Amino acid sequence: MQNGTGRLVRRNHASTASPLLAPTPEIPQFPLIRPDPPRLSCHAAELAEIEASGVFSNYGPVNQRFEHEVIRSIFGEGACLTVCNATIGLMLAIREGIGDARPAERRYALMPSFTFAATAQAALWCGLTPLLCDIDPETWLPSAEQEDWLLRKYRGQIAVIVPYATFGNCLDLARYAELAQRHGVPVVVDAAASLGSLDIQGRPFAAGFPWPVVFSMHATKAFSVGEGGLVYCADEDRLSRLRAMGSFGFEQPRIVTTIGLNSKLSEVSALTALLQLERFPAAITLREKLLNTYGAELGQDFQTQQSTGIRQIQSFQSIVLPAQLAPLRDAIVTSLRTLGVSAATYFSPHLAQHPYLRDRVAAGSLTATDSLASRILSLPLLTSMSEDDVRYIASCLRQVAAALAVAA
Ligand SMILES: Cc1ncc(COP(=O)(O)O)c(C=O)c1O
Repeated sequence: MQNGTGRLVRRNHASTASPLLAPTPEIPQFPLIRPDPPRLSCHAAELAEIEASGVFSNYGPVNQRFEHEVIRSIFGEGACLTVCNATIGLMLAIREGIGDARPAERRYALMPSFTFAATAQAALWCGLTPLLCDIDPETWLPSAEQEDWLLRKYRGQIAVIVPYATFGNCLDLARYAELAQRHGVPVVVDAAASLGSLDIQGRPFAAGFPWPVVFSMHATKAFSVGEGGLVYCADEDRLSRLRAMGSFGFEQPRIVTTIGLNSKLSEVSALTALLQLERFPAAITLREKLLNTYGAELGQDFQTQQSTGIRQIQSFQSIVLPAQLAPLRDAIVTSLRTLGVSAATYFSPHLAQHPYLRDRVAAGSLTATDSLASRILSLPLLTSMSEDDVRYIASCLRQVAAALAVAA
């Protein structure tokens, strides 16, 4: 909103004394992300119960309840396994998929370049080279055409396909199941942000999928816990193997029968996750309302991601700056900060642009990825925000972009 001088001002909903307040430039009111895990300090009785049980980890009773409740309330079928974070979950799932007897020539992990560093790092830890593909310019999901092309070009050399469900958008999992069969290559889905997303038929994303789908419960995710992750898999035998691998490779008590590490979630973290499950439906409803308001405010002027499902869980609102504004992106971020709005640029750099990674990856053409990464802007989507806050952020962006474009 503007006052008579054309200066941006913000209606302060928290205060009745002063209805109009200029934002304090030094202190952003809207960080990009404000983690919102359940307040454990309000759950002393449940914590005391864990202490009384004497079980603090090792897939204990709270963890078992959480896994059971996730399947009941989110997926409706299949099985899941908690892990201490999604990066370790990806490492486990990739390692399980490629097995012990991987021929040396199967050295690539096919994944999009438009993803977080963790996807590539997990593959590197498994001894694989990330083979980066481009994205679809509308959905920002891995480009099906380029994946098909790379699977043909690198026939016999790809050890695993690791698609990323970009910013909670739904992948066509039936296609990946078919690719796995056709090429004899395992699939591991990086669905870090997607817990709670619904596909185009309204089915929970991942439900029924026989390959591991890895979700993050990091503090910054919509399903905010702290550190934590969840591996969903409809193939219960595969999930049992992952569970054993996550506990030092013990398929029987203290007998190592497979490769392993320690990926277990503590009982206290499992309690936080269980409590988050109760609050999740309300948080989803609020985020959807805020996203709709962003759409109404910015949809005319800025490209946004095309959703492939009927519900896309998002941790922030991503928009694409028009090409003429791309060179001004840093200045836009700086100006927004003076108005109390923290914006970011996920995923810029994309994987092929990171100094450590660029010499350790192979890549197809990344035209759409380069273009999106150079123009993307991530805006706050906080559970503490109102629709008026979204309107304020949108008006800040419009005004800052217009002012900088004139000055350029
Ligand atoms: C695409 C993607 N993959 C993996 C991860 C890793 O998740 P975690 O922090 O739980 O290890 C993230 C985290 O933000 C992510 O965005």
